[in-house]
Amino acid sequence: MKVIKDISALQEISDYHRILRKKIGLVPTMGYLHEGHVSLLLNARDECDIVVVSVFVNPKQFLPGEDFKEYPRDFLRDYHICKKSGVDYIFNPDEKEMYKENYFTYVNVKELSDKLEGIYRPGHFTGVATVVLKLINIAKPHCVYFGEKDAQQAVIIDRMFKDLDVDTEMRICQTMREDNGLAISSRNIFLNENERNEAAILNKVLNEGMNMVLENRVERCDELKKILEEKIKSESPNSRLQYMSITDDKLLDEIENLNEYKGEIIISLAAFYGDTRLIDNVSFTKM
Ligand code: PAF
Repeated sequence: MKVIKDISALQEISDYHRILRKKIGLVPTMGYLHEGHVSLLLNARDECDIVVVSVFVNPKQFLPGEDFKEYPRDFLRDYHICKKSGVDYIFNPDEKEMYKENYFTYVNVKELSDKLEGIYRPGHFTGVATVVLKLINIAKPHCVYFGEKDAQQAVIIDRMFKDLDVDTEMRICQTMREDNGLAISSRNIFLNENERNEAAILNKVLNEGMNMVLENRVERCDELKKILEEKIKSESPNSRLQYMSITDDKLLDEIENLNEYKGEIIISLAAFYGDTRLIDNVSFTKM
């Protein structure tokens, strides 16, 4: 396994493997790898000849006042996890390599970026789309792997790939969860034991919401949200729900009347425990 710091070095390596007709898989990450990332790495290992993982805490996707400085970092730990997972190359550029002097270009997936998470984190998805497109141009992968925990991110990147004719396949891998259902995230280390226990409610209510929809137990989404929000409040007094959305999976438009809706549904939410912001979602098909 090699650690690559330079953009041009990885581009040359990718060209070399492409000439040899090797299939390249890229797993973009911000490091502090956990089981969720490992499942992406193993999927990539399974499907590709060459596995590249990027470890880069992208400053452009953090708003002023967000946790860019505090975001957990431990490269040595990441290195060992990658090695154990059969990674071939870790791309670990520094900020100055990724965003050189006079950096002016951003990718804005309009319409989709200002909804849900985008309401509370304006500019976040421009940072994500920009760095993902850069990573694709650097690693030149045939396949790129993302987790379904970041549902909106996946929808936005999928749109960007289609709109900009990006010749890379996208794979979305299942969210990995703790035993109590809490979605595994690098930010979970900031939760104390009580918060970690309480946060199990998030996955529980999302599943309950899904079941209520599938069993036609509720007609209006505002009614469903109210039921689920009250459940979170009563079972998890330390939570601060920021939003809950019930949307389609293409335009991320809020669904109002469930009786009239058929197709994919994403129920997503963000909640704070102290300063730690957690997101989670469930997606399913309503026939
Ligand atoms: O999902 C993440 O960890 C990040 O948003 C990504 C895709 C690595 C871009 O920085």
